[in-house]
Amino acid sequence: MLQTICKKTVKLCRSPTAVELFKRGLLTTSVQKQANKDSPVVSSYNGWDPLEEVIVGRPENACVPYFGVEVKAITSQDRWEFFHQRGGTSFPREHLAKAIEQIEEFCNVLRGEGVTVRRPDVVDWSKEYETPDFKSRGMYGAMPRDVLLVVGDEIIEAPMSWRSRFFEYRTYRKLVQEYFNKGAKWTAAPKPLMTDALYDQEFPVDDFEKRRDLVLSGKFVTTDAEPAFEAADFARAGKDIFAQRSQVTNQAGIDWMKRHLEPEYRVHQLYFKDANPVHIDATFNLIGPGLAISNPDRPCLNLDIFKKAGWKIVECPHPTLSDSHPMWLSSKWLSMNVLMLDENRVVCDANELPTIKMFESLGIKTIKVDIRFAYSLGGGFHCWTCDVRRKGTLQSYF
Ligand code: ALA
Repeated sequence: MLQTICKKTVKLCRSPTAVELFKRGLLTTSVQKQANKDSPVVSSYNGWDPLEEVIVGRPENACVPYFGVEVKAITSQDRWEFFHQRGGTSFPREHLAKAIEQIEEFCNVLRGEGVTVRRPDVVDWSKEYETPDFKSRGMYGAMPRDVLLVVGDEIIEAPMSWRSRFFEYRTYRKLVQEYFNKGAKWTAAPKPLMTDALYDQEFPVDDFEKRRDLVLSGKFVTTDAEPAFEAADFARAGKDIFAQRSQVTNQAGIDWMKRHLEPEYRVHQLYFKDANPVHIDATFNLIGPGLAISNPDRPCLNLDIFKKAGWKIVECPHPTLSDSHPMWLSSKWLSMNVLMLDENRVVCDANELPTIKMFESLGIKTIKVDIRFAYSLGGGFHCWTCDVRRKGTLQSYF
């Protein structure tokens, strides 16, 4: 009996062979390293070079975030009942099932266009966790764009600023570890403590007018107690990277990125007339070398750099989504939250005819997909993805 147990234990504890490690992407040979040097596994300098590999998020097990001040500050009061009832528990399951179906279809479309699709792990987000400073439950692994920023051959894990998103990076860790093993640079920005000091506890969450005036005067629910940012507040155009201060990205976070990326890259701050800024990619999207689409309800206040460099800025038509469709965590402007497969092909909302027309008038072929149930979780095609590899090199467009 003892012998049998020992044999079993030995079998279980046996270290994996080199072949097994190689298969799991945990071991690279010198030949592979050389190959990776010539064709890096992670390489993306902008949002429009030909897309080769992308991470697509998962709606599975998505939970409504705990309703703390940082979440209240970005939601309209007509959604509060929903958050009060469901904070820390699953989004409505039937809705999630439809979102899962739509995202699977989106992945198939991408594969059909020749793009390699990678997916994060399925995680139980409802588990409670505790740091020395706070308790929370998780939210989801749906929006890789918020967590990961690829700049050249480097993957930067954003620190995030909501307590419910503190551990979100973990769902991407297997993938990031694999990319690291294959030669990518990997940086995790400093994890914020997320104590009460990171949030303005007096932020007038329930007074929409006061809230709007505060934000327009440059005050947000996140303070600058420590750097905090989400990757989706940054837009890449080769040597130039554009950031916005938002409800989820503070000035200290932008400063951290500036010091981290400069002088190889130039980090600029853009300012928008936006009463509730959360992520730049439904406000101002760089979709081609010299081409940006902009949200007419949230005009950019310092476009000079684009104008000087001769960029064309196209105003997007208003979204047509009905008010009755639940949008728990975002506006309807996900209509402009698109994914470029290259500078001549865009994945966009099959239902948004005016936006489709806009792209077609720009000579861009539209690949129409419907992910409206997935929209309800707070993101469009751009948010649901993180481009890991695009063919192309580092260039200056300014
Ligand atoms: N937070 C962005 C918006 O709601 C995506 O427009």
